[in-house]
Amino acid sequence: MDQGSVPRLEIVLETERLLLRPWRVSDAATRRKLWSERDPRVLPHRRISPDGHPTLEDIEEWIRRGDRDLSPGLLAAEQKSSGEVIGYCGLIPNGYGQEGEPELAFEFLRKVWRQGFATEASWAVLERAQASGYRCLWATVRDWNTASRRVLAKLGFVETGQVVPDEVHGDSLFTRRKL
Ligand SMILES: CC(C)(COP(=O)(O)OP(=O)(O)OC[C@H]1O[C@@H](n2cnc3c(N)ncnc32)[C@H](O)[C@@H]1OP(=O)(O)O)[C@@H](O)C(=O)NCCC(=O)NCCS
Repeated sequence: MDQGSVPRLEIVLETERLLLRPWRVSDAATRRKLWSERDPRVLPHRRISPDGHPTLEDIEEWIRRGDRDLSPGLLAAEQKSSGEVIGYCGLIPNGYGQEGEPELAFEFLRKVWRQGFATEASWAVLERAQASGYRCLWATVRDWNTASRRVLAKLGFVETGQVVPDEVHGDSLFTRRKL
């Protein structure tokens, strides 16, 4: 199997078309592109500010600092066929579930949307989460985010009925997946 440019030891998870691995400083431009492609309804602090922040240098610094306290963490998704990072997927701590119930997060470049990458990466993360002993995962999603809601539904997440209303950015829906 083609391993692209990723040394075997660096691969955290592997799927049919993706290698999931820790971020490298050289991935900063892709990560910034993901920011720049975000929907205008996404909260301003999660979009590129009018004065250009986060800059490429800001993101390089985030990657240098790293954040690997939660296995398997948030992983860069490298497409095997091109060796290109096309998004990320992984787990982040959440502030609303029980301890040991992290949140699933994913984001992919627009140019690869609707090819099943988010679902494929998420299944691998789900399996790892289960193997790591987590009992359940959470995900929050804005009501207008049809693609993300569809991915979560395909993965077996169910809406809990908990909603944080937001007329400006869209209501946040809480979803949960037992493992
Ligand atoms: C959400 C996101 C990661 C999905 O990535 P993806 O690789 O395109 O997802 P998949 O191809 O695995 O699945 C997308 C599903 O949504 C469907 N979909 C996508 N856009 C849609 C739309 N506008 N209306 C209806 N369905 C839509 C696709 O048809 C597919 O469902 P299907 O397999 O039943 O056909 C991607 O849109 C993205 O990066 N969005 C911005 C970041 C984001 O919203 N992250 C999640 C925050 S909660």
